[in-house]
Amino acid sequence: MKVCVVGTGYVGLTTSVSLAFLGHDTTCVDLDKQKIDTLRAGHCPIYEPHLEALLEQALPHLTFTTDYAVGVADADVVFIAVQTPQLDNGNPDLQYLRSAAESVAQHLRGDFTVVVNKSTVPIGSGNWVDAILREAYERHHGHRPNGQFAVASNPEFLREGTALADTLYPDRIVIGSDSQASLDVLNQLYRPILNQSFTPPTVLPRPAGIGAVPLISTDLASAELIKYAANAFLALKISYINEIAAIAGKVGADIREVARGTGLDARIGPRFLNPGIGWGGSCFGKDTAALIATASEYHLPMPIVTAARDVNHRQRTKVIDRLLDELHIIKGRKIGILGLAFKPDTDDLRDSPAIDIANLLLERGARITLHDPVAADRFRREQPTLAEHLTNRVDDVFDDADAIVVATEWAHYRDLDWAKFAPTMRSPLVLDGRHCLNADRLTELGYRYLTMTAPAIPPRSDTQ
Ligand code: UDX
Ligand code: UDX
Repeated sequence: MKVCVVGTGYVGLTTSVSLAFLGHDTTCVDLDKQKIDTLRAGHCPIYEPHLEALLEQALPHLTFTTDYAVGVADADVVFIAVQTPQLDNGNPDLQYLRSAAESVAQHLRGDFTVVVNKSTVPIGSGNWVDAILREAYERHHGHRPNGQFAVASNPEFLREGTALADTLYPDRIVIGSDSQASLDVLNQLYRPILNQSFTPPTVLPRPAGIGAVPLISTDLASAELIKYAANAFLALKISYINEIAAIAGKVGADIREVARGTGLDARIGPRFLNPGIGWGGSCFGKDTAALIATASEYHLPMPIVTAARDVNHRQRTKVIDRLLDELHIIKGRKIGILGLAFKPDTDDLRDSPAIDIANLLLERGARITLHDPVAADRFRREQPTLAEHLTNRVDDVFDDADAIVVATEWAHYRDLDWAKFAPTMRSPLVLDGRHCLNADRLTELGYRYLTMTAPAIPPRSDTQ
């Protein structure tokens, strides 16, 4: 099929590369010329595992352009995957979506095109985009549209860091439209994934046991709400375990055992029960805020989702309390932060807990040193003030430090030569904000080991 994807961010690019890999003739449109030049040269503007390898493989089916006319005319499907950043009132900013929809409408030439909202948009946006397309179409073509297009919603559930696997081997595909013809086109587009009939890329073999992928083919509003309901649930699952972690710390329970024992109940499931400093990223914060904002338009409170946000926010300030428990005074202390990306295997810094933690520490008068194995370059561009505290050498983070906070569970940090660094610290204290390090090993090496809840475990030498 002929596909056009507007926006080559995380979502747009992963979608484009996956569809091109499946053999669809895919054109990516982005207004950012530099991004398009980078992509044309076969490079990825973002860090996402395997994306560049798959991009190279799919290149024969991919076109990159800044010109809507090239991609939109005659496309069977146009995906709009532009950013929808959060406004101060909790609602997403839809100006990019509006201008993308207007440009798409101007260039529609085919007999029938499905215009798909891939960006996470407030419930009801399908109708809104439909209205914008109609108006812009009429303005540009001089007559009303007559069945040339229909709008659909096709929310994405991809996690950064595993975006391609989540796209090729999803738990389900959700498509929503009030037009049956659109649903049929999307059903056909996704057939290779739904039937798992494609030959898997060598870098991403098909996971064992994956069968036909369930398809939820529904109306527009239901598809839009599924996305919010899913993301809010995942966010509150994490906040829930963090709330339980707080009581676990008080009663002397091991939260990892509690999470394991809870998650093995098939009705609950073990995933997204990792306790720590909480969630960040471009979706959970924004989507929970948008869900609350939409509900408030209907005078509906959302106490559970609101609580999930509060708990998550509290985790960030709690890092300071945990350090205070051990160091008593923060002012003048040197604190190192390992990990700036909101999760490992991405260089995305949006709503990253590490950024709030760094700012809170500075407000308290601490001296900070920051490190990330992959996101450092992006951090320099996006956080120029905080970047004054950035170092490329992990040794600098430990040198003379009073404490280290692990904010992102990069494998790189697990594999550090921890023995080498303990003697270089003023006081070898580690706050493992992600439960990713081996406490026994660290305490043996002379570290005092701290998590977000349990009492600190002293170095072995102290207990002998
Ligand atoms: C995605 C989703 O779209 C968003 O709704 C979700 O909540 C988070 O993930 P993402 O792909 O990460 O956003 O966005 P971003 O990386 O900002 O990329 C958007 C791209 O669209 C940019 O490259 C931008 O240049 C491009 N764009 C934007 C256009 O080409 N045209 C426009 O009119 C606006
Ligand atoms: C999320 C959704 O999972 C995905 O379906 C979607 O539509 C986009 O938003 P993403 O934000 O890329 O994906 O990452 P995700 O793996 O969900 O992690 C989000 C945050 O939660 C990260 O900061 C991560 O560190 C944190 N997290 C995750 C926990 O603190 N504990 C967990 O158990 C899982």
